[in-house]
Amino acid sequence: MNEPSTLVLGQILDLHANPFDVPPDEAARYLRRGGILVENGKIAATGDADGLRAAAPQARVIDHGDGLILPGFVDSHAHYPQTAIIASWGKRLIDWLNSYTFPEEMRFGDPAYAAEIADRYLDLMVSHGTTSVASFCTIHPSSVEAFFAAAEARNMAVVAGRTCMDRNAPDGLRDDAQTAHDESKALLETWHGQGRAVYAITPRFSPTSTPEQLEALGALWAEHPDCPMQTHLSEQTDEVDWVRDLHPHRRDYLDTYEAHGLLREGAMFGHAIWLTDSERARLRDHGAALIHCPTSNTFIGSGLFDTARAMAEGQRVGLATDTGGGSSFSMLHTMASAYEIGQLSGTALHPAQLLWLATAGSARAMRMDDRIGTLAPGSDADLVVLDLASTPAIAQRHARSETIWEAVFPTIMMGDDRAIAAVYVAGAQLTAGGTPPDQHSRPVSPLIADSLGLPGGA
Ligand code: GUN
Ligand code: ZN
Repeated sequence: MNEPSTLVLGQILDLHANPFDVPPDEAARYLRRGGILVENGKIAATGDADGLRAAAPQARVIDHGDGLILPGFVDSHAHYPQTAIIASWGKRLIDWLNSYTFPEEMRFGDPAYAAEIADRYLDLMVSHGTTSVASFCTIHPSSVEAFFAAAEARNMAVVAGRTCMDRNAPDGLRDDAQTAHDESKALLETWHGQGRAVYAITPRFSPTSTPEQLEALGALWAEHPDCPMQTHLSEQTDEVDWVRDLHPHRRDYLDTYEAHGLLREGAMFGHAIWLTDSERARLRDHGAALIHCPTSNTFIGSGLFDTARAMAEGQRVGLATDTGGGSSFSMLHTMASAYEIGQLSGTALHPAQLLWLATAGSARAMRMDDRIGTLAPGSDADLVVLDLASTPAIAQRHARSETIWEAVFPTIMMGDDRAIAAVYVAGAQLTAGGTPPDQHSRPVSPLIADSLGLPGGA
């Protein structure tokens, strides 16, 4: 049955082209008073507010006033099981995994704990304006079930997969090649394409997989080529050295994946900092995605990803938190961190480029840019509405702005969940109540809204 249409009003910033390819003002359409017409969970039209009101007089109107409407943020690499250990002090990658990550991931064999953290994590995503995420789970099928179930309850489009490891991990977090293949296959067959769910084949990284396991997962991917594949690549120099020792027959780190059918379009490689020229060329030629995780790269001390170089050489690049190696759940913080790393690498990324990476760029890395990360008619109505004056410090800088880019940049650099005025997932507003334009209302999930007895509940 058709639902009544909804007209969401506010300022609109529609990045309809890639601002790394064309100048920002050509890539963007800015409407001071615009609207998104939502029908059956999809964007029916994006345009001038008065024109849409006249074209759809029957639509229910939700007016966000000066709120800036963007596609919901897309986080293209995260570990939801690391939610509770974010901001753990003092370690670099391998020690950080052994000290903090693996003990926590061990707990996800308990379905009740997995469900609790999955709910907590997705509530945090919504309150930070992120409407889609590609997440690693743990080795336990229950961790995957819990995550997809929590996403389904919110109608969120998520990518997730069982994280496979058959060596260099503690007892209880190791499988073998056959189990990894069979359990991944069963989860894939249950969840992939179920509602908005996308299953990703997920070897953690080459240090924790034998060649046999990588081969088995490559074979599974060949049977299901429309699924994405997510893993890690060349995050720290120690890790690159270790991979050379563990896989002596491979010419470089990328080859540990390539040799087993794990390099092609649909592959998403987290970090990808310490690459050789040959690796860079093969990544580009195969259409794989490099996922930049800036807060993680500074927090764990990994290195500086050169976004401008990657874009100029034609790589597919996504932007991500890498929670809980990353130090924030916020894609606003993540954009700020990408900007700062860009400065250290010699390029000031434009606000249009940062926003594009956090929406369309990540969606493209996930091969979902026909559905999410965009305001194009026909795509899913996943939206975030930003308050561009959410704190006194941001408000006073915003008051000086003369262009939309100057208006949004203080929120990119200094904003957090207080800047998230409203969130829509597949056309449904996940906020507590009707959000009058001048009244700040924090987005919460329908589940929280339900438990609080608020009108945003399911
Ligand atoms: N490499 C392998 N596993 C992980 C992880 O969980 N986080 C990060 N940042 N890097 C990894
Ligand atoms: Zn990661």
